Amino acid sequence: MTAVAAAPRFLPSTLFGASAPSNRITLGFIGCGNQSTIDLPAFLGHDDCQVVAVCDVNTACHGYRHPDQYLGRKPAREKVNAFYAGRAGAAGHRGCDAYNDFREILARADIDAVALVVPDHWHGLMTVMAARAGKDIYCEKPLSLTVAEGQAMVKAVRQHQRILQTGSHYRSSPEARRAAELVRNGRIGEVRRILTQVAEINAVDPGPGWEPTPIPEGFDYDLWLGPAPKVPYHKDRCFYRFRFNLDYSGGQVTNFGAHTNDLAQWALGMDESGPVEVEDLGSEWPAPGGLYNTATKTAFRARYAQGVELLCRTDQPGFSIRIEGSEGWVEYGYQGLKTDPESLKALTPGPNDIRLPQSNPDRIEEASRYHIPDHVRNFLEAIKTRRDPVAPVEVGHRTATVCHLGNIAMRLKRKLNWDPVQERLVGDDEASRMLTRPMRAPWSL
Ligand SMILES: NC(=O)c1ccc[n+]([C@@H]2O[C@H](COP(=O)([O-])OP(=O)(O)OC[C@H]3O[C@@H](n4cnc5c(N)ncnc54)[C@H](O)[C@@H]3O)[C@@H](O)[C@H]2O)c1
Repeated sequence: MTAVAAAPRFLPSTLFGASAPSNRITLGFIGCGNQSTIDLPAFLGHDDCQVVAVCDVNTACHGYRHPDQYLGRKPAREKVNAFYAGRAGAAGHRGCDAYNDFREILARADIDAVALVVPDHWHGLMTVMAARAGKDIYCEKPLSLTVAEGQAMVKAVRQHQRILQTGSHYRSSPEARRAAELVRNGRIGEVRRILTQVAEINAVDPGPGWEPTPIPEGFDYDLWLGPAPKVPYHKDRCFYRFRFNLDYSGGQVTNFGAHTNDLAQWALGMDESGPVEVEDLGSEWPAPGGLYNTATKTAFRARYAQGVELLCRTDQPGFSIRIEGSEGWVEYGYQGLKTDPESLKALTPGPNDIRLPQSNPDRIEEASRYHIPDHVRNFLEAIKTRRDPVAPVEVGHRTATVCHLGNIAMRLKRKLNWDPVQERLVGDDEASRMLTRPMRAPWSL
């Protein structure tokens, strides 16, 4: 773990008691959509953090992932205020502010940290701007939209000595960590192959011939698009479904792959590196002309220098990872940890075993509802100690890079040679150009 200087603004708890207002980390929560229904309560649940502002370019509407979700900055502010009003010791709470423009949050000197729970095309810009503004950052996965953005994010976070936790919260799962430790400690023998699963597109494309729909009242579409190209509005472009359009995301490859390929990188000890070759294995893509243009079936192979193959595919719903070695395998997914031989699961780590960082050392029970609160807890601790959390900026960047390279190889249908030290593609100008993309003025990194 890297130590990071630049102290936060709050004062030591010994002076005021653990939950005194002056001791709380003040947070601006940016992006009040689908994932905010999980992430916002995770921040509210920690006494030493106070959500003082929320921000969304949408005032409020139905029609996010599920039609009955009613989300946006207005309901988010109401939720925060209702939460603090009902909590003992809430006397210091002045009420939560709500903003349309995130720059107003970044400009507030009384805000220590921000949570970025916005579509992927905003992660890079907001992170760099937040780092420059002196904020610590919880940035949802996938960390970046492009490899070049990820590099800029690493640079900005380190230059401004900020804490960044990537929202790849399976790093806070006891069983996912155990799986990675078993692999790192040779308990499945020599690693041969890794299978990572990413889901299919789980929304219906309006299809070729789609017609623009009116921009809803209370929705700042231009600020939603931000650095992305200016295009006509359609209701299926934005809320939740942005992940199926390459202007804003990388499809399920970056969505689920930011978890499964992240666990592969962790288990292999590749957090500061990556594969050397990436090739398409017969991916499938939607017919041109629709709104969605991300892979319908993911299929790529990434080869690491030591010979391990990672096969990232869409073979089953949801997400899972299976790591196969010469003497057994480990598997992690919604069903938790499975191993072969089964005895591996209960194996007690030896005194000389590699132990990976734990978000919450007291958490031994595997339950997915704990991952995100523990991941947030780990972020808050990192802010206080100025030491890196379990998924710092480099981790998020390198994992996103695997996913982006997979997408580029699948789009071009050819093998790419990646230099993970220089972070560049070798001998392929067309593919290299896809590592970055222009931003719409006035936005730039
Ligand atoms: N960790 C996980 O397991 C997990 C799960 C789901 C989503 N996510 C991530 O969370 C992020 C958001 O996904 P989602 O499903 O909540 O999407 P969403 O579309 O439901 O919500 C995003 C919200 O951000 C708002 N927004 C867009 N641009 C903005 C801007 N410039 N300023 C302020 N608000 C802006 C939108 O209006 C919307 O309300 C994505 O990066 C996604 O990958 C992570």
